Amino acid sequence: MSNFVKIENKIGNFKKTIKVPGDKSLSIRWVLFASLAEGISKAKNLLMSEDVLAALDAIKKLGIKVSVKKKGCIIFGKGIEGYKYKKGLIIDAKNSGTLGRLILGLLINSPYPINLIGDKSLSKRDFRRVSDPLSKFGVKFKLRNNNLLPMKLYGSSELKPIKYFEKKGSAQCKSSIIFAGMRTAGTTIIKAKKSRNHTELLCKHLRLPISIKRNNNFDEIKIKKVNKINTINYDIPSDISSSAFFIVLTALSKNSELIIKNVNINPSRIGIITILKKMGVKIIFKNEKTYKGEKKADLKIVSAKNIKSINCPTKLNSGAIDEFLVIFLVAAKAKGVSYFKNLGELNQKESPRLKWAEKILTNLGIKTIATNDSIKIYGDPNLTLNFNKKIVLKNYLKDHRVFMTSVIAALSFGGNWTVHDKDSINTSFPNFLKIIDDLKKW
Ligand code: S3P
Repeated sequence: MSNFVKIENKIGNFKKTIKVPGDKSLSIRWVLFASLAEGISKAKNLLMSEDVLAALDAIKKLGIKVSVKKKGCIIFGKGIEGYKYKKGLIIDAKNSGTLGRLILGLLINSPYPINLIGDKSLSKRDFRRVSDPLSKFGVKFKLRNNNLLPMKLYGSSELKPIKYFEKKGSAQCKSSIIFAGMRTAGTTIIKAKKSRNHTELLCKHLRLPISIKRNNNFDEIKIKKVNKINTINYDIPSDISSSAFFIVLTALSKNSELIIKNVNINPSRIGIITILKKMGVKIIFKNEKTYKGEKKADLKIVSAKNIKSINCPTKLNSGAIDEFLVIFLVAAKAKGVSYFKNLGELNQKESPRLKWAEKILTNLGIKTIATNDSIKIYGDPNLTLNFNKKIVLKNYLKDHRVFMTSVIAALSFGGNWTVHDKDSINTSFPNFLKIIDDLKKW
């Protein structure tokens, strides 16, 4: 089967209700917590994508039984000390930074060395951001070139709690330390720049010994050794990062309206909503609810008429970190120049995304100035490409969000596109193209 899509027409108007798959961050965290629980945990709407399947494979390798059925996923946890460590164990995190970084925190008491590997994209990403803090607990690491996968973890039975200042605003790094703290006698203290807080909320929901003090820019998290985790049944709300593509498609399409059901709207994840509202896009939350400490709602989006440019406040960066590529498409259609800064972390993702943003926007004919950590986008409210404009995009690191953003650009602005690496969507959003087909049929 071909691994590209051809798009030669803008999408027509649509009025629909859709559902996108379960949240990726919550799905991976549920798998890891359930693997440590005492007994059977069940999840509904678990994201069935390669990243989450890699998490299930990882816990299976650690001796935890998993059953995946149509109705949901069941994990047979064996308690906090229930992992069965074997000599020569290899954990393959595939494309998932979240899995690779979080699981390291749980493996620090392994009696045998553990190898962590990943795919081509993950093997280019920095793992020192987790090996540095985890080393302080008393474990050792060997990384390729000092910061890359493949890496080897040498666990310890004499762990000591740490005090660490996490300055990047990386939820993966913070969560990895929280997991390590759960395995370590004494109190681990993390001062962490604000980032998504799903791990903390799950710890609270499970009544684990965690305390969180919120300051303006930082949270102070204290976590003590955990002796028991109760089972956790979870109906996972839909992913706002997957919803983002359809939020933007609706905003940029004429006479359209979309409802996306049951989306996680954790305040640390809704940067895209705040940013797009500032730019004049109408997005409404309906049926807001709290579920296991997380907020969720149905989202209603309507086509935007006059899109305004934005000088994006940096305090919104962390809450929109996975959505910037697609947000930049809205800036491409805004009146005026938009500016986004302090975004160096974007180049640390599945591929260097600031560079990709520049490439996509330049292909659209939009003047774009990108540096290592910022981007200036000269919007054009009349942006539309004709059929003669041929664009071919091939992203050799197979970044799912580069692929999906390119598809949304093609459907929103026109042109004659060939977008390669279709299979990249399997990491986070396997039915992305199917939902687009359903919108076209409307
Ligand atoms: C994630 C944290 C973010 C995000 C990633 C998922 C998580 O990464 O980009 O897609 O689930 O903790 P960083 O921790 O590197 O910011």
